[in-house]
Amino acid sequence: MDKNREWKEVDLNENDAPEEISADEEKLLDELGLRGAARRKFLGQSIGGGLGVFALQLLAKEQALAALDVAPDAVFAQSAGLENAVKVSMKVNGAAQSLEVDSRMSLLDTLRERLDLTGTKKGCDQGQCGACTVIVNGNRVLSCLTLAAQCNGKEVTTIEGLAKGDELHPMQAAFIKHDGFQCGYCTPGQICSAVALLNEAKNGEASHVTRNLRSNARNVKLTDDEIRERMSGNICRCGAYPGIVAAIREVQSGRETAQTWHFATDDEIAAVMTDNDQAEIAAMKREGKTDETV
Ligand code: FES
Ligand code: FES
Repeated sequence: MDKNREWKEVDLNENDAPEEISADEEKLLDELGLRGAARRKFLGQSIGGGLGVFALQLLAKEQALAALDVAPDAVFAQSAGLENAVKVSMKVNGAAQSLEVDSRMSLLDTLRERLDLTGTKKGCDQGQCGACTVIVNGNRVLSCLTLAAQCNGKEVTTIEGLAKGDELHPMQAAFIKHDGFQCGYCTPGQICSAVALLNEAKNGEASHVTRNLRSNARNVKLTDDEIRERMSGNICRCGAYPGIVAAIREVQSGRETAQTWHFATDDEIAAVMTDNDQAEIAAMKREGKTDETV
């Protein structure tokens, strides 16, 4: 048995009073209402547990505070859940919203966590991927880098606000038509970005690849290079870029273009199947498995 352990066992014995306590400590114990056996037990436990006088002082302070009456004009700190609260009123997808948020809360978190609009996605949360793009007063913004408090009095449109009932926004329909997505995670941000981009073109706003910055032309025609440059802040890990460019080109030009993909026909599937594949499928059909399970 080591020495320290021996010492603790002696001190933890509630019948042995600790060697010395000061007058102040005596007073504290009195204030705590600890007398006689209760005092000895408390001292043995607190010293054996390494608490000591500091613990006594804290306990005494706690008791003293608990006994205080609350002053009528007392000011309490806000709960840790909502520090620095600010009131924000904004229109989100056409509906007025008034809420109290932490002044540091991003628009992205406000949409997702407070308004349950989870269509807007959190990718990097640091302004690098574009997944969180929404439209504020007609301009695309990265909602992860925008404070909700900055949007007071503004109009916010998210992916949920683009369709009219069952009728998709033309950009949404074009993304489907041109296969502008695969997993879909970046898609809400891509579509919001693309919708706002059309306004930028309409207003004649220049991009890094615009040739003539002096023309001030309205309704800039978006070439594929322009679309790629203007959409470069929206990253797609699935690499659906050709479809995204085709979708934006079609909506901006207003000229329908044929989609470049279609579901494979039976003949096309048969043409790429080996004899083994054919035999396997025939066997599965004989066993009564449906087309879906095959
Ligand atoms: S989540 Fe905002 S840019 Fe990536
Ligand atoms: S569709 Fe998967 S990340 Fe763009």
